[in-house]
Amino acid sequence: MKHANDIMSKKEKLKKLILRQNSGLILRKLEALNREIRNCKKCPLWKLRKDTVPGEGPINAKIMVIGMAPGRIEDKTGRPFIGPAGKLLDQLFKIAEIKREKIFITSSLKCLPQPPINRKPKKEEIKACLPYLEKQIEIINPQKFILLGEIAFSTFFPKKELRSFRGKWVKKDGKKFFITYHPAAGLRFPKIKKTLEKDFKKIRRIISF
Ligand code: URA
Ligand code: SF4
Repeated sequence: MKHANDIMSKKEKLKKLILRQNSGLILRKLEALNREIRNCKKCPLWKLRKDTVPGEGPINAKIMVIGMAPGRIEDKTGRPFIGPAGKLLDQLFKIAEIKREKIFITSSLKCLPQPPINRKPKKEEIKACLPYLEKQIEIINPQKFILLGEIAFSTFFPKKELRSFRGKWVKKDGKKFFITYHPAAGLRFPKIKKTLEKDFKKIRRIISF
């Protein structure tokens, strides 16, 4: 029996070692990507940015939340969704019983669109920045996505209407996408805020932590 236990513990140790090596590799890949983003000059937004906002979350996150672009406070701090839209997102996470620290949060664009501050991103900017999001998805490999608003939605579902997908889980390439509005729109329009709350209640039923 002792012998069997020894073999088991050796197997367990090996498994843990491989897991640790894998996460080390993923971490190094993400760090390299973040460095690339920090030095990026692929579109004119680099000129006025204070900081890039690559996104944050655990390297083995099962869920990725994707917004549009950093706002003023995100640009100052380098962290995603910590301004007013982020505060609403935190409330929505509570409704969905999602722990922020368990998911990876990012945006389609990694720099603040300006001037003027917070303007709508341009098509060329979104196109220039997209490879970073694609690389993040490849490295982290989340199985579920929450797409916030038109920009994130059209990245994955070009030429489709957000209206007909909103509030639903949609399968694409073996992954699941939940489509809803951007919290910034919820701050401006009470009706949209209500819809967001309703949508995040639906998410709660699907996601279990
Ligand atoms: N809005 C976004 O889409 N992303 C952020 O990080 C902040 C606000
Ligand atoms: Fe580079 Fe994206 Fe920033 Fe443009 S928005 S400078 S593509 S990181």
